[in-house]
Amino acid sequence: MKRPMYIQKSKSCSHQRDLNNSSVNNRPNNRSNPLKRGISFRGVKERLKEVLSEGEADLFRGGWERIGDVLIIELPEELESKKLLIGKEMHAMFPKIKTILNRKGITSKFREPETEIISGKDTLTVHKENSCLFKIDPTKVMFCAGNLAERARMAAISAPDETVLDMFSGIGQFTIPMARHSNPRKIFSIEKNPVAFRFLNENVKLNKLDNVETILGDCREVSPRGVADRVVMGYFVRPERFLRPALAALNGRGVIHYHDLPMRNEVERRADDLISTINSSGYDAQIITARVVKSYSPARVHCVFDVECSRRDGRDGGMMGRRDGWQ
Ligand SMILES: C[S@@+](CC[C@H](N)C(=O)[O-])C[C@H]1O[C@@H](n2cnc3c(N)ncnc32)[C@H](O)[C@@H]1O
Repeated sequence: MKRPMYIQKSKSCSHQRDLNNSSVNNRPNNRSNPLKRGISFRGVKERLKEVLSEGEADLFRGGWERIGDVLIIELPEELESKKLLIGKEMHAMFPKIKTILNRKGITSKFREPETEIISGKDTLTVHKENSCLFKIDPTKVMFCAGNLAERARMAAISAPDETVLDMFSGIGQFTIPMARHSNPRKIFSIEKNPVAFRFLNENVKLNKLDNVETILGDCREVSPRGVADRVVMGYFVRPERFLRPALAALNGRGVIHYHDLPMRNEVERRADDLISTINSSGYDAQIITARVVKSYSPARVHCVFDVECSRRDGRDGGMMGRRDGWQ
């Protein structure tokens, strides 16, 4: 009989709290400084009411994200003509922040952010999280605040005798904390966007890691085979396209962390489909954990399925280093 799947909910994490904790002494001007009493979304809104009409201030709904000393907000189109005013006002409230960006969207190909500077000018920063340093330019590459709990989980999930493949490394969001805190024997870390790849390499150096091998390219073409105990598939755009190289990377058996973007009411069905697809590739598979990483849209959730896989014929995935491509 099929057991009902237990879906873990992500622990919420607030970047607003990061800002609350930052100690700020120099007041930008003599108006009330909400950082002194711990800044809140409401505090920002109240302050904006001093320079916007009540109706305009009410349109400011998104909150903010802090990456290093860069602050990112998302303004609705209706506030386009007020964006510089809002930037200036918020900068005065957060004097330790060097630049404020307005995020307009994300491109689909490399999932690059589309942003514009609304206050300040330098966007290169170093973000510290979970004792790891991430050099990043948030105008060029993504760093998703909502994935914080998942990054912390991944940091502790591996072990010193493991070999790991991170197929969609980005700037090292999973590779860096895992390499540092779980200390696996080796992490193969693949990224196809040259800009993100450059940051990935810098972050390996910045964190003084010697167990990471970075590889530039499409993971369908450059993934090693038959080596991994664990594969991280941290990219949810039609992830089924990448399942075959993920399975082939396993050393016959291991765990795949499969990220996906199902409709809210279809999580369990997606998990069943995933198991069927893996089974039809000659592997036994079972889901050991299903987690909601974050809410993605009113209709969809970002999920991660941890799937234990073992090849039925007992062989490994293929020759180490053979990288002849997948379609
Ligand atoms: C949204 S980022 C996620 C980074 C990280 N895994 C995380 O979850 O925070 C996805 C990354 O995968 C990269 N990517 C997309 N398709 C790829 C492919 N076929 N091979 C290698 N990297 C790819 C993108 O360039 C991007 O940097």
